[in-house]
Amino acid sequence: MVEASPGSEAVRLEGISKAFGSFKALDNVSVALRYGEIHALVGENGAGKSTLMNVLYGILQPSAGRMLVGGQDVGSHWSTRDAIAHQIGMIHQHFSLVMEHSVLDNIVMPTLKWTDLAPKWGQYRERFSELSAQFGFDLSPDTLVGKLSVGQRQQVEILKMLYQGAKILILDEPTAVLTPQQSDRLLEMLLQFRDRGYAVVIITHKLEHALDLADHITVLRNGRQIATVAKGEGTIADIARMMVSQEVNTTQRRSRSAMGKVVLDMDNVSLDVDGVALLDKISLQVREGEILGVAGVAGNGQSELAETIIGLQSTTAGSISIYGKELGTTSVEARRRGGIAIIPEDRHAHAVVGEMDIASNFIMGHEGEPQFSRRGILNRKNIAEFAKHCIAEFDVRTRSAETKLEFLSGGNQQKVVIGRELSANPRLIIAHEPARGLDFAATAYIRQRLVQAAEAGAGVLLISSDLDELMELSTRVVVLYCGRAVGTVDADAYDPQHFGSLMAGAEAA
Ligand SMILES: Nc1ncnc2c1ncn2[C@@H]1O[C@H](COP(=O)(O)OP(=O)(O)OP(=O)(O)O)[C@@H](O)[C@H]1O
Ligand SMILES: [Mg+2]
Repeated sequence: MVEASPGSEAVRLEGISKAFGSFKALDNVSVALRYGEIHALVGENGAGKSTLMNVLYGILQPSAGRMLVGGQDVGSHWSTRDAIAHQIGMIHQHFSLVMEHSVLDNIVMPTLKWTDLAPKWGQYRERFSELSAQFGFDLSPDTLVGKLSVGQRQQVEILKMLYQGAKILILDEPTAVLTPQQSDRLLEMLLQFRDRGYAVVIITHKLEHALDLADHITVLRNGRQIATVAKGEGTIADIARMMVSQEVNTTQRRSRSAMGKVVLDMDNVSLDVDGVALLDKISLQVREGEILGVAGVAGNGQSELAETIIGLQSTTAGSISIYGKELGTTSVEARRRGGIAIIPEDRHAHAVVGEMDIASNFIMGHEGEPQFSRRGILNRKNIAEFAKHCIAEFDVRTRSAETKLEFLSGGNQQKVVIGRELSANPRLIIAHEPARGLDFAATAYIRQRLVQAAEAGAGVLLISSDLDELMELSTRVVVLYCGRAVGTVDADAYDPQHFGSLMAGAEAA
């Protein structure tokens, strides 16, 4: 077993390389992790961050290099089971929980062996409560994971690691799915882990988090280790410069185009599920050339708003019209064909098919269009050309359009969804957390594209938990609270205090 005294070396990765075919995802990377320290791993989408940690966690075998855990060379047959046995825990970019099972099941089941003939649920429950109390979690063991919010699901993942006895904790972009408040709480928790002597690795695109928290920051670029800097050794600008292969253009600003006709008109829209009003008499309009922001603490109706417009949920009352034409019970497919594009919040679950290649994901939902197929027969050549064009335009880092989507890095998968949606020349774009998981060059680019789409005459509904993003891109921002639109703020007259109280429901009638 490893010796976990603070400051002692937990893990040493030496000269790790990883090739996929002829492609080098990692090239000679060396990193040391210590107990009682936080190590941040930063780099562009596709830089190799997840790959490096997947090697450490035994999911991928390195092509070269060696790993020492607690000073011992682990050899070449290192599996996830070994990693867990050596007190390494990892939370992936995309969670791996069973929705239909309870919190306790999700945490305990992976630790059970088939030889455990009489599982001691009483003891497991006790251990669960102890851990929860120790770190201030407020999860009920019997709730179904499917009923939890994203933030709570992440707590389940963290508890699962701790329950398995992990002392070396790896978190792959843990704050990407969290609201700012939840994110602050998580970062606090990481500091707590550090203070208790755990070794923590955090992969993040938020450099300010890396600088605030980390004792060391390793910067990867195109699979190569550009630097490992100690706390206080570099500024955000220094680190950012090391990360990017090209200068980032961040000149996006609100669209200056004149507003045209009303594209989206929601009139008194309500959505009741099991007697709960998830949307409550929402009325709003989005005009051509406008980016209308939607703010609110997560879970106040944002997802339902997007889902009713695209037709995934049917409204209980009120009407939704596009260019004056009521949508009624129009299908999702017909709404898409009619010019509504959606970048959904949970892209992994709703917008891509991992087993299909990139090209197919690019045309998903548009296969029936004449340039892609005739009488049911796909036009491979046009599809390939279109995919090639999108890959270049949205800077999807891949070797070919035939690569399966699941082999792309997280951020590059998102670029595929965004590229597909924006390439269809939509009249209305629903963008829900569009920059989630993207590095800052890609973030700047996507924001620019939304502004351009508005300038070209589309209406954009931007749902975001990032207030800076909302204020920068939108002209007006609607605040949702408990399914109601409790206020609309002009971005030019933004007053954080007033805005905060709207979001907190303090001004809800
Ligand atoms: N199983 C695989 N087969 C082929 N290529 C892969 C595989 N896994 C990863 N890659 C490639 O390795 C590179 C690094 O990917 P990785 O997921 O480590 O990036 P990342 O730094 O985590 O990016 P992001 O910030 O977008 O999550 C990418 O170009 C990706 O396409
Ligand atoms: Mg990744």
